[in-house]
Amino acid sequence: MTDEVGEILIPSDRIAVRVRELGRTLADTYAGREPVVVAIMKGCVMFLADLVRAWGGTMDLEFVSARSYEGTRPGRVRVALPEDLGEKVAGRPVLVLDDIFDTGGTLAAVCCEIERLRPAELKTLVLLKKRRSRDGGSPGRSPDWVGFEIEDRFVVGYGLDHEGRFRNLPFVAALREDA
Ligand code: IMP
Ligand code: MG
Repeated sequence: MTDEVGEILIPSDRIAVRVRELGRTLADTYAGREPVVVAIMKGCVMFLADLVRAWGGTMDLEFVSARSYEGTRPGRVRVALPEDLGEKVAGRPVLVLDDIFDTGGTLAAVCCEIERLRPAELKTLVLLKKRRSRDGGSPGRSPDWVGFEIEDRFVVGYGLDHEGRFRNLPFVAALREDA
C-alpha cells in the first residue's frame, strides 16, 4: 500500500481545521432553515461525517451515487438517485456535497438532476478543487464553497479512492505517478 501512496498534500490536522471553518460557514448560511444535504457517494463519506457534526444544524441527509472515473481518467458520468428524492427536495434548500471537483462533470450532472426536482435553492460544496479545472473545460458552474484548492494530481485518502482503495487514509495524499 505505502509504495503506491506518495506525498501527503493535506495532513489530517489541516483537514480538521478547515472542516470546522466550513461547519461555521454552513451554520451561518442555513441558520433557521432545514436544508437537505445531498452527498455524492462514496468519496465524500469521511468529509460528510465530519462536516455535518461540525455544522450542527438541523438537516436531512440523502445520498446519490455518481460514477465517472475509469482508473485515473474521467469518463461519462452516470448518476443514480433514490426514488423518493423528489419528495424530500421539492421546495427545500439543497446543499450538494462532493469530495473533489476536477472537470466539474460530476457536480454538473448531479445538479442537473436535482434542479429537475425543484428545490428552493441549490448550493454546492466540495472538499477539494483541482486548479486546472478553473482555466477552462469545466462544463458546469464552480462550487459555492471549496475546502482546499490543490494542484492537478490524482489524490487519495479521506474518502478518495483509487480503484476502491485508500479511502480510509486520514490525510489526502498524491497517488504515485508510477503506481
Ligand atoms: P469530475 O467529474 O471530473 O469533476 O470528477 C469528480 C469525481 O471524480 C469525483 O467525485 C471523484 O469521485 C473523482 N475524482 C476526480 N479526481 C480524483 C482524484 O484525484 N482522486 C480520486 N477521485 C477523483
Ligand atoms: Mg466521487
